[in-house]
Amino acid sequence: MAISVCFVCLGNICRSPTAEGIMRREVDAAGLATAVRVDSAGTGAWHVGERADARSRATATGRGIELTSIARRFDATDFVRFDYVVAMDRKNRDALVALAPDGQARDKISLLRSYAEQGELDVPDPYFEHNFEHVFDICEANCRALLVALRQRHGL
Ligand code: 4NP
Repeated sequence: MAISVCFVCLGNICRSPTAEGIMRREVDAAGLATAVRVDSAGTGAWHVGERADARSRATATGRGIELTSIARRFDATDFVRFDYVVAMDRKNRDALVALAPDGQARDKISLLRSYAEQGELDVPDPYFEHNFEHVFDICEANCRALLVALRQRHGL
């Protein structure tokens, strides 16, 4: 069965769609499209049904990636559907921990920045900061490291 990864931010229109698009490119490039399934969601509901933010899409397009996600809210059933629930920052990590029905679900939660870096914990929120290129770079480095970790852990 495929390993499944869900990236989670607040609105599901900036950071998690960016990470989803990058991770899918990395997974495809590694020939692992059937082995690793990638999705994203938000802990907030304000933007449900919307495409990714136009600024995130423009940044991704500039790096050769089309963001196709439609915003949706993370819900408790996602803890069953996904093996890895990867939060963009501590605030969203804490919201996910609060939603987790049991220890098995809690154990699926991690922080994206924990994969490539030590010390930095949060992917900054670009919605008001307008630092979309910086956010893309952080997501790219950490998605690459996440894929290395998945390959090691699951022998892919
Ligand atoms: P995201 O960014 O969590 O990376 O999708 C945000 C999107 C929308 C809002 C905040 C952050 N908002 O306040 O509507």
